[in-house]
Amino acid sequence: MLKPEPLFNAFDELEAFQSSLVTWFAENGQIHPWRETVDPWAILISEIMLQQTTVAAVRANRRFEKFMAEFPTVLEIQQASEEQLLKAWEGLGYYNRVRNLQKTAISVIEKWGGAFPTSAADLETLPGVGPYSAGAVASFAFNEPAPIVDGNVARVLSRLFNSSTEIDSTAGKKQLWKWAGDLLDRQRPRLFNSALMEVGQIFCRPQKPDCLACPVAKFCQTSDPESLPRKKAKTKAIELTEHALFVRRAGKILLAQEKGSRRKGFYRLPLRSLEEVADLELLQSSKYAITKYRVMLHLYQAAGQIPGDLNEGESWFTLAQVEELPMPSPDRKALNRILG
Ligand code: ADE
Repeated sequence: MLKPEPLFNAFDELEAFQSSLVTWFAENGQIHPWRETVDPWAILISEIMLQQTTVAAVRANRRFEKFMAEFPTVLEIQQASEEQLLKAWEGLGYYNRVRNLQKTAISVIEKWGGAFPTSAADLETLPGVGPYSAGAVASFAFNEPAPIVDGNVARVLSRLFNSSTEIDSTAGKKQLWKWAGDLLDRQRPRLFNSALMEVGQIFCRPQKPDCLACPVAKFCQTSDPESLPRKKAKTKAIELTEHALFVRRAGKILLAQEKGSRRKGFYRLPLRSLEEVADLELLQSSKYAITKYRVMLHLYQAAGQIPGDLNEGESWFTLAQVEELPMPSPDRKALNRILG
């Protein structure tokens, strides 16, 4: 990996650093639907969506456009049922994000008279809006001089200043937000923040960074970019096994509505203990990850007989209903493979 020697420190040549970034972005920045608008509601939706879902996935499936079509303003989401919310977010995971979007919309309507606050500090008082989303809405929608630090920016800045402080430690986060604020081009915050993030996506990649093409390589102090950023050691994933039933009776399929848990409101394939599925035919197995768990999902054919009684929350649905219900991705994929 070729990394040119640094010629300057970004803080010593601040205007040159800012211009290098902003000029590169103005000429080469990607066009995204959320960059074609300054509507704070649209920008908040895009940022919340992009927190755990890649740009490629959001773009490929037109998830942002579809969500905006269903909830074009805070008013439409205020009225939505939980089922409608979960359906609109299906497949994106971390469903508290869409519940929080509804809470945010209600707060904007009830506390702010329907108009978004414009400063990052006020935006942060909205439910589910943390420092990153607040900075993103303030700078992208209102061109307010508010910094942002996401994973991309954290990587760029660690390398730019050759910092080995763990980016997810308290000290590391404090340092990153200070740098992002001090470097920010206060005349052009919208462009600057977009540029910093995009340099992280396009050149300053986690592996195989493209330093030779990077517009700010001459300011970058690290000689070993791939060794940065450093993060706290991960706690090991917890392994779980789930045994789910596929039961079809008179054209209907048995599903269970989740009560507690982060999947509250979702319909899942009904789960049973290992003992209860012991005599059933295994149809397929798949793996998925959720938060700190790695789950093996086994799906069994339960022809007519249902092992154990019907549990609370379990009921029958036609195929057409099954399509419309909110369902977590692993269950949806398993079911689709069987239904063809
Ligand atoms: N990831 C998170 N926010 C983004 C944005 N506004 N543009 C591109 N990628 C992003």
